Amino acid sequence: MDRREFLKASALVSAALATNDIAQASDILLPHSDKNEGQDMVETAPPSEGDKGLLASAPMLQNYAETSMGIAFAVSDMANGYVVYGQQPDLSDGRRVMCGGFRTTELSDRVIQVRLTGLKPSTTYYYRIGADRIQYKGGYNIKVTGKEEDSHTYRFTTAGPASHAHFCVINDTHAKWEAIDRAMNKIAELSPSCVVWNGDASNVEETIEAQTRIFLNPEIQRKDYASQTPYLFCPGNHDLRGMANRHLERVWMYRQPEERSSRDWDLGRNFAIRMGDVAMIGLDTGEDKLDTNPKFAGTFNSQAYREAQVLWLRDALRQPAIAKAPYLVAFCHIPLFDPDPKQNPGDIAPADTDPQYYTDYAMWQRTCAQLWSPLLEKAHCQLVITAHQHIYRYDAPTATRPWAQIVGGGPNMDPSREGHYPTVIEGLVRDGQLHITIHNLLSGEVQQTLTFDQRRKK
Ligand SMILES: [Fe+2]
Ligand SMILES: [Fe+2]
Repeated sequence: MDRREFLKASALVSAALATNDIAQASDILLPHSDKNEGQDMVETAPPSEGDKGLLASAPMLQNYAETSMGIAFAVSDMANGYVVYGQQPDLSDGRRVMCGGFRTTELSDRVIQVRLTGLKPSTTYYYRIGADRIQYKGGYNIKVTGKEEDSHTYRFTTAGPASHAHFCVINDTHAKWEAIDRAMNKIAELSPSCVVWNGDASNVEETIEAQTRIFLNPEIQRKDYASQTPYLFCPGNHDLRGMANRHLERVWMYRQPEERSSRDWDLGRNFAIRMGDVAMIGLDTGEDKLDTNPKFAGTFNSQAYREAQVLWLRDALRQPAIAKAPYLVAFCHIPLFDPDPKQNPGDIAPADTDPQYYTDYAMWQRTCAQLWSPLLEKAHCQLVITAHQHIYRYDAPTATRPWAQIVGGGPNMDPSREGHYPTVIEGLVRDGQLHITIHNLLSGEVQQTLTFDQRRKK
């Protein structure tokens, strides 16, 4: 569909929407839903240069979960956005959910975020995004001056014990488009149930526009890379840096507060997801410098954050669906172990400096390992997938460390330097084992394969 057709379809949909006739709008859109069979990426019609279309990106599925799904998209003007979703491909059962939460919708001229809740586990839903263009001239002077709806119907499948146990992991993309482009092409080929973005998607981001460019409008071929493949996020140290990244939730939303206990209200990034036979645990290692490091002038609070995740992790591992899963895989950005004694363990007070270490920042996180690994070990966690070091590595389990660790590759593509290639780490349960495949995005070859036996029988 070219841009003219996209606008024509959008106009027809707008007319239907003006009469609040969702079924009619769905009928108009129906021919386009043919493209959505399977997990194939859908061709979208992003606004062209100079075009002031209200919808300014394809939707991104955020925070894969059993009974909820986040949907975010960019807008070019003040907008009141929404998602229409249902289980019928034609959305004849479509329900409209507005952006924001209770009391008011979340008017925005940059990013619309809609959180769908009360979904059924391991269930396929169809959805469409749209927005009203809003002219706001005061509390009693608010007008809808236009409506726009994406002409595509997308689909997603929620997590749950009956879901296909198949994940991919990317990390340390650092807005390097060539590496991201290759990663998204590989992910499209593999068609996993979800993707974990394991941190350092950012560099130092000072504006919402810069964050939007990274997640919603990346400079890659597959603009709709996350429209049908849901993503999870474990932030990296760089995802905390810059004024805008202090509130990244304006672009990549937190999980819903009701999805965790009141004690853990501020732990919006952690996840404990059951996907088929795999339990996936998401942890946040925070900054790679101590809170006392004068470089950051006392503006970080990672230590308390890491400690708060202990009780969250303890309870997450006790959830029946997590406790009973045959495989347990944890994800966090900074590694929890390093075999090289010269790598900085991140607890060198007060300023991370000591001549015995190569770097003046954490290359691995001893504090997080001490806080979290006893719980992970008690739960028989088999594998921790990490990132941060920009060089792929596999650490096999030992007598004193029963879990394996993978360190994902970085964004640099330098054939002359050992280990300098980006990776997609794929996990798939097949024939009673968890198969891990590390795809080397520089060579295009499989770098390594690993298999893990069940920690528990079903
Ligand atoms: Fe990084
Ligand atoms: Fe990092």
